[in-house]
Amino acid sequence: MSSSETSQNPAAGGDSVTMDKIVALCKRRGFIFQSSEIYGGLASTYDYGHYGVLLKNNVKAEWRRAVVQERDDVVLLDAAILMHPKTWEASGHLEGFSDPLVQCLGDCKKRFRHDHLVEALEAEGKPTDHVVCPNCGGELSEPRQFNLMFETNMGPVKEEGSTIYLRPETAQGIFVNFKNVMQFARKKLPMGIAQIGKSFRNEITPGNFIFRTREFEQMEIEYFCAPDDAATKHEEWMAARMQWYVDLGIRPDHLMLRAHGDDELSHYSSATSDIEYLFPMGWSELEGIANRGNFDLTQHAKFSGEKLEYMDPQTNERFMPHVIEPSAGADRGTLAFMVDSYDEEEVEGRERVMLRLHPRLAPVKAAVLPLVNKDGQPEKARALYEELRPLMQAEFDTGGSIGKRYRRQDEIGTPWGITIDHQTMEDDTVTLRDRDSLDQSRLPIAEVAGELARRLAAPWQSPKLS
Ligand code: GAP
Repeated sequence: MSSSETSQNPAAGGDSVTMDKIVALCKRRGFIFQSSEIYGGLASTYDYGHYGVLLKNNVKAEWRRAVVQERDDVVLLDAAILMHPKTWEASGHLEGFSDPLVQCLGDCKKRFRHDHLVEALEAEGKPTDHVVCPNCGGELSEPRQFNLMFETNMGPVKEEGSTIYLRPETAQGIFVNFKNVMQFARKKLPMGIAQIGKSFRNEITPGNFIFRTREFEQMEIEYFCAPDDAATKHEEWMAARMQWYVDLGIRPDHLMLRAHGDDELSHYSSATSDIEYLFPMGWSELEGIANRGNFDLTQHAKFSGEKLEYMDPQTNERFMPHVIEPSAGADRGTLAFMVDSYDEEEVEGRERVMLRLHPRLAPVKAAVLPLVNKDGQPEKARALYEELRPLMQAEFDTGGSIGKRYRRQDEIGTPWGITIDHQTMEDDTVTLRDRDSLDQSRLPIAEVAGELARRLAAPWQSPKLS
């Protein structure tokens, strides 16, 4: 761990987006709230509301689609968060999963990550031999290694031997299940095991909204292969994972691959590259793609006494598989998709704020809106809404002026609005409004479901690229 996650580059190239605007939109529209808000909130902990859940679920579904459904060499796993404590001895987390903590000895007594302070000074071209508190200028304590794992106790009696940990990565659940999965997956190497789940880290300096929190969700693949294949598979996964973000609408010039220097590599890794995204606070890690070699399986074989080698059915050769690990954050990904799609424009003298999300990511795909709340329009609209509901997440909204309802749908990123008006009552046609182009086309009500399904399946490119 202890790698740099935020390089010091100017904020998001030319966009009007800021983190404050994203936080405000998330609160205004019920995507994400401060956790335990009625008690004053719990620092850097967030709860997802309706639209946030839908969006994050879509991010996870698209990941699952790309890494499992559209391949035939990756299977799924859902391991428990609580694991045998020996797991963390074997994995090296008990000893090595720490960040250098310093505390201000001056007025403010704040705590910082020493490596982050050094990096910030380096980026400004300032000397790093005497680092002082960036908040009050006070002297700092000597750095001490602070283990990031949350400790708890299993069972009713807090006694020696009952200490367990909340997992700091989902990966170890995959390694300890390697043998189980291989027995039932009916796959040969190379093959991968994919898992989505919560991880916990007692981060020294969480921050930047849901970018760095103490409880977060990871989407991880451990891809097992022959040692000689590892370098090639590493390259392939880096390309595949970059493409995934681009296919879902992130602008390629807001993404980059950055190889870790030797001093940044985690204790298990022989090579890691991060996919970085140009967040409002600068280039920061979105996903890490590591070559873990055979470190983890070797360690678990040693600590558990189990044989975790693989026998090649063709050559009968036995070897400890090597592992390529694309490890993404579901919350960080969700944040990147929101930041990249955020847009503002003026239409007929009024400001329009919107999330130009890829339709497959959008929390709601279609909003059915009767122009007026009378003359049979709501009933007609409701019937269409009920036809769409089994096919996609849709909304039926009768409240407020049509402009106000469009603005609400724009802000939650709904790609299509269908308006029922007086003409619908005469000829059964409706208006289909496109969020990005504002194009309004008329079509028979009976064709709406088919047209939306066609648009959802069509390739999509961010309008911010044109
Ligand atoms: N198993 C490897 C591993 O956990 P990592 O680089 O420490 O590697 C992988 O984490 C990803 O998990 C990161 O790229 C990030 O997206 C996400 N992540 C890590 N720590 C996080 C935190 N404190 N808050 C939110 N997401 C985090």
